[in-house]
Amino acid sequence: MRITKAAGAIGAFVECDLARVVESAQAVAELRATIVEHGVAILRDQTIDARAMTLLGEQLGAIEPHPAYGTLEGAPDVQILESTPEVPSKIELWHSDMTFRAVPPTFTMLQADIVPTGCGDTMWASATAARESLSKELADWIEPMEAIHDFAFGFQESLEDPATRATIEEAIEANPPVRHPVVRPVVESDRSAIFVNPLFTKRIDGLTRQESGWLLDALHQHLIRDEHTVRLQWRPGTIAVWDNRSTQHKPVNDFLGHHRRMLRLTINAD
Ligand code: SIN
Repeated sequence: MRITKAAGAIGAFVECDLARVVESAQAVAELRATIVEHGVAILRDQTIDARAMTLLGEQLGAIEPHPAYGTLEGAPDVQILESTPEVPSKIELWHSDMTFRAVPPTFTMLQADIVPTGCGDTMWASATAARESLSKELADWIEPMEAIHDFAFGFQESLEDPATRATIEEAIEANPPVRHPVVRPVVESDRSAIFVNPLFTKRIDGLTRQESGWLLDALHQHLIRDEHTVRLQWRPGTIAVWDNRSTQHKPVNDFLGHHRRMLRLTINAD
């Protein structure tokens, strides 16, 4: 496995053949360590199908289904994230996947299935680098805080859409709000991450609504500073695997009018 850094604080290009990695416990362990160390591993020119993708996911942990996304026929663990000119993407805010769960997924694997040329990139930010670049005073202040994460808050737009409302209502019932520390230690590393995001974090416990909004916004602006980020231009055959505990991400929503289809696995390994 040849590993090259993709940006200063986060991301690594990993040269390997995932079809062969899947067959070796040692290679899977090496890949996992690379994801944890660099936050996101980017693998170009892969040929694995949805079955092999699932097999790799199972070797990294337990596959975690999503309450709202459809899945691939014949590969029920593989979620479809699709944006078409008729039904454009609604998820465009920075987030870490499924923080509305008490135990959110550890890793996410994303494969480019249909990608428009020259747009539809994905960005990641290192929430550990962002935690480490806070002043000691601010870091000490937020350390004991907890925040409320809420599925309904993140899927408000889908809830307002008559086409998706019924599925979302069921998912809201099954996913009541949960509480997470604002700064969360990353298991398997000696680092901690800022663990609030604009998509699912509704408020910081114990603060007024106005104070909570102000602090969440300040932490978010800090987290997505250029020096904490990496940006990936997808090509057919590109796969990215990231650590949800130490990173946040967003699709760059500049693909209006295009078809973009990504295949995703969320994996719980904690
Ligand atoms: C995601 O939010 O998990 C997917 C990001 C993307 O589609 O670029």
